[in-house]
Amino acid sequence: MERVLRFLEERREEAVELLKGWLAIPSVSTDPAHKSDLDAAANYIARILEDAGLKVEILDTGGHPAVYAEWSQAEAAPTVLVYGHYDVQPPDPVDEWLSPPFEPTIRENKIYARGATDDKGQCFTHVRSVQAWLATVGRLPVNVKFLIEGEEEIGSPHLEGLVRNNVERFKCDYVVVSDTAQFAPGVPAITYGLRGLVYAEIFLSGPKTDLHSGVFGGAVANPANNLAAILGAMVDSQGRVQIPGFYDQVRPIEPWEREEFSRLPFDEAGMRNYLGVDALWGEPDYSVLERRWCRPTCDINGLTSGYQGVGAKTIIPARASAKVSCRLVPDQDPQAIFAAMQQYVRERLWPGIKAEIVSHGLAPAVLMDVKSPGMRAARKAIARAFGREPVLIREGGSIPVVATFKEVLGVDTLLLGWGQNDDNLHAPNEKFSLDDFHRGTLASALLWEELAALYGATGAAK
Ligand code: BES
Ligand code: ZN
Repeated sequence: MERVLRFLEERREEAVELLKGWLAIPSVSTDPAHKSDLDAAANYIARILEDAGLKVEILDTGGHPAVYAEWSQAEAAPTVLVYGHYDVQPPDPVDEWLSPPFEPTIRENKIYARGATDDKGQCFTHVRSVQAWLATVGRLPVNVKFLIEGEEEIGSPHLEGLVRNNVERFKCDYVVVSDTAQFAPGVPAITYGLRGLVYAEIFLSGPKTDLHSGVFGGAVANPANNLAAILGAMVDSQGRVQIPGFYDQVRPIEPWEREEFSRLPFDEAGMRNYLGVDALWGEPDYSVLERRWCRPTCDINGLTSGYQGVGAKTIIPARASAKVSCRLVPDQDPQAIFAAMQQYVRERLWPGIKAEIVSHGLAPAVLMDVKSPGMRAARKAIARAFGREPVLIREGGSIPVVATFKEVLGVDTLLLGWGQNDDNLHAPNEKFSLDDFHRGTLASALLWEELAALYGATGAAK
């Protein structure tokens, strides 16, 4: 172990250089123009894993490839599956970046690039820790498998199929994912719950072309007005979703969770300041953290209709559309919520208006057992690396495949986030603190040891 730690400590720059090479590849999964960059990003990390001594395969998913790597020579020891994603969100709006999104740049000991924290930088901590163990000790205390995919940011459409078709291959005791955040700088966290997602696009159409609003206005329904009426009524002024049945399956927050969350050092004014708003908003009976982590929501993500050019144009537009997504909590069923949303829209259409409602992805929320041996091991590893016990939190984002791992492989995921909430993920100037990067790498290296120790020589959990 000493040698592993020394390797990590003495060769920090090499780790950062390797990460930079990965970040320089613009692997934007949603944009077909970047197809070859996705392949390049997969090959880049595959090569590093191979050079480290793992057996690597590039798996055809039917979409962007997934990288699979394995080192399985630790007998009678647990097996860990590290999941991460090499795809990134589009860098737009590009002119708001202080340095180009795919030219990784270090300022004030933070690395700036699209994917710096979400998720190349965080995923790379595990790659590096495995590299360090194999380069120094020549073996790992646990069996490690990697699954690094290229479609997380578009809802992992091919991953469930891949997992179902490869149950033996992905078999493990725990999944480990670093694609979340710490609670705050200096307050490391283990995340035991994520929200799910229903993403829908609603298309309303009315007259067959745009019309003169003076000639026809008042006699034909305007799809933009109708869409505004529907969307405007979907959420009330205090954040309560009005779709009938929406809350039927919502699992209440447990008293111990409310208590834990209320003890966290949450800085509400700091969040207001970071967001540039003079007030926060949401369901009155819940705290800000409860609203972000444990309550379902419904948000318009995009809205399009009519004339968008300069000046005025008097028309009744032929079409209107909106991208709308709901964050879900346990035990809401994504299918049922999507159906309820469809019905909500259809029941509110005005005469002459037609609707088409398309799903862009469904994922259920997840909750982990907070008392599992894996959690104990993760807690110890993080405490050693960060010099402070992690807090237990839930988070509001979604990682669709985590529910699939539970359902298909029957295992919990240890969500060990090294990032920060202000790392600008999905936004301009995404960044990752190099201190967090190195501490995360150290925690990963220690985690393999702690997991092996917890399980003992028989391979059964103590
Ligand atoms: N890393 C995020 C998820 C995340 C962010 C979890 C912050 C917890 C805290 C992930 O890459 C992501 O953005 N996921 C998408 C999933 C969607 C496209 C299905 C999300 O949450 O919007
Ligand atoms: Zn993301």
